[in-house]
Amino acid sequence: MRVNISPMKNGQGQLTEIYLDSRAQILCPPQLIPAPGQYLLAHAFGTNDPLAVPVFFSDSAPNGFCAAPYLPLAWTPGTQLNLRGPLGHGFSVPIFARKVALIAFDESPARLHGLIDIALKQDAEVVLVSNAVMDDIPEAVEVQPLQAMTDIYQWADYAVFDVARENLLQLKEIIRVGDQSRAGALSALKGPRESQVLVRAPMPCGALAECGVCALTIRHEWKMICKDGPVFDFDSIF
Ligand code: FES
Repeated sequence: MRVNISPMKNGQGQLTEIYLDSRAQILCPPQLIPAPGQYLLAHAFGTNDPLAVPVFFSDSAPNGFCAAPYLPLAWTPGTQLNLRGPLGHGFSVPIFARKVALIAFDESPARLHGLIDIALKQDAEVVLVSNAVMDDIPEAVEVQPLQAMTDIYQWADYAVFDVARENLLQLKEIIRVGDQSRAGALSALKGPRESQVLVRAPMPCGALAECGVCALTIRHEWKMICKDGPVFDFDSIF
């Protein structure tokens, strides 16, 4: 189950700090704060940028939230932002989850970071799989390189992935081994009870203009990552 789309709002915010790991603190009204996996569309005041930028939740922060990288280089502390959101479907940690795998397939695990607290609060073990280094990972979380992905995937009862649209095929190729094994063609790779996938792509309009830039073909059907995702149920994609 994914987090449903919340009523969308417009408002203003401000980038107040950029951390060493490229995450940034954003001040904004509480009703604009996205859930893990959801995003805001942000446009900086006084810039010529024609396109808004999707900004994802990474962690809680006073009077706003900590946003995942990478934000435009032109955004510096003090930058005022026009914000619209929260947008899209986010993650939902199932109540049965006791072995949680957070897998950042090709970039920073920052967009998955917000799930750590939720999982630990329900006494789950959490393993973060990523080749990117990130500050601020609680000691209770085990960190593994991407090389360990299939082992951790088999261990978990709930797994989430963060992957760019252009790398979905590569991820599918790896997971397909598991699918074949479940069908009996190969030996035992067994997937978790539930998995979700955050698919990253440019999302300039956030479904407002139906621009199609974020389109994704799933089983011969077009889906818009900006509104049908960005978090999809694993089985619906693979
Ligand atoms: S970003 Fe325009 S339709 Fe998705």
